[in-house]
Amino acid sequence: MDIPTLEQSFTAYFNSKPEFIVRAPGRVNLIGEHTDYNEGFVLPMAIDRSVWIALSPRADSKIRIRSLDALATVSANLEVDSAFELNSLTKGKGWGEYIKGVAYELQRAGYELRGFDGVMTGDIPRGAGLSSSAAVELATARAFAAASGFEWDAVQMAKLAQKAENEWVGVNCGIMDQMASAACKEGYALFLDCRTLEHQHAPLPENVSLVILDTSTRRGLVDSAYNERRSQCEEAARWFGVTALRDVSVDEFYKSKVKSELSEIVMKRARHIITENARVLEAVNVMKDGNIKRLGELFNASHDSLRDDFEVTNDALNIMVACARELPGCYGARMTGAGFGGCAVALVEKENAQEFTKAVSTTYKQKSGLEASIYVCKASEGACIVER
Ligand code: GLA
Repeated sequence: MDIPTLEQSFTAYFNSKPEFIVRAPGRVNLIGEHTDYNEGFVLPMAIDRSVWIALSPRADSKIRIRSLDALATVSANLEVDSAFELNSLTKGKGWGEYIKGVAYELQRAGYELRGFDGVMTGDIPRGAGLSSSAAVELATARAFAAASGFEWDAVQMAKLAQKAENEWVGVNCGIMDQMASAACKEGYALFLDCRTLEHQHAPLPENVSLVILDTSTRRGLVDSAYNERRSQCEEAARWFGVTALRDVSVDEFYKSKVKSELSEIVMKRARHIITENARVLEAVNVMKDGNIKRLGELFNASHDSLRDDFEVTNDALNIMVACARELPGCYGARMTGAGFGGCAVALVEKENAQEFTKAVSTTYKQKSGLEASIYVCKASEGACIVER
């Protein structure tokens, strides 16, 4: 993003210079798909695509945010009355709901919010599985922290943003995207335990690039298929007599009578989650040892399990992953995010990366008839104030 242009846009709307510029990134998940709402493990990384807000605090509790992309303005009054009724915040539709939802949850959690004027823009493709909505939520939280002067607590902010998405927006997502956008560190992936929210910054291997392969197919998350997967996982957890599938080991799974006693579908869903958790743990270890070859194999196994057992890939994702795996320097490739469309991610030898991006676009187009967007991404910092 070009910061001077954002500043100029702010000045054009509000006739003054913005006091702060904040940003929050999108994410790509390296491995650990659909494990977050099973209280398991994930390994996302913040990408160098973000949402930015230029802002200045106001004397009152109003917010006005102009989106340079949606060409629309969201205004709300955040006054809280004596009964702590959040009065004038009303629900509507569109991107403004993420902002209002975050304001609502921050206030409910006891944060005293000061209003602000802001302009917002971003470069994360929407609906592509790169968490553009989590980025709007965390950029909003970061803007409120800057305007109201409270300290940034990444875990707390991620939890409130998730709550906003679950309850205000009505999307039943897990915690991974919000944690990645809030808490990642430049140059590192985030190894996160979704039960305790304990996390470690895992250094990324040298000499390899992470390449995002956008299939250009889209499917919304507010989708019955996501909720259906969640309830199938819950059914399996009940059968195993545990709080969440995180508590079942691969060994226990294979020794159990799950195959004869649960429906084939629920058994497959459970098998994906249980083996995927094990893959994340192994991925973190092999990353430490610099064993890229094994990391690539784990990427591949994850995709295959999402395709065959969890059944959340589509043809475009399967074609993309197959095209990527055939190319020189590619250690492994898998879909990333919720699935049903969106992006895959490939682990590619650095010196092959440029060549790879060209070749994969060409073969993907030949095989699917679709135009892909491919980018080599950098592990970026979580939500922050941009130094000027
Ligand atoms: C979406 C959700 C996440 C997670 C992934 C699948 O991105 O927002 O919470 O469940 O799907 O891993």
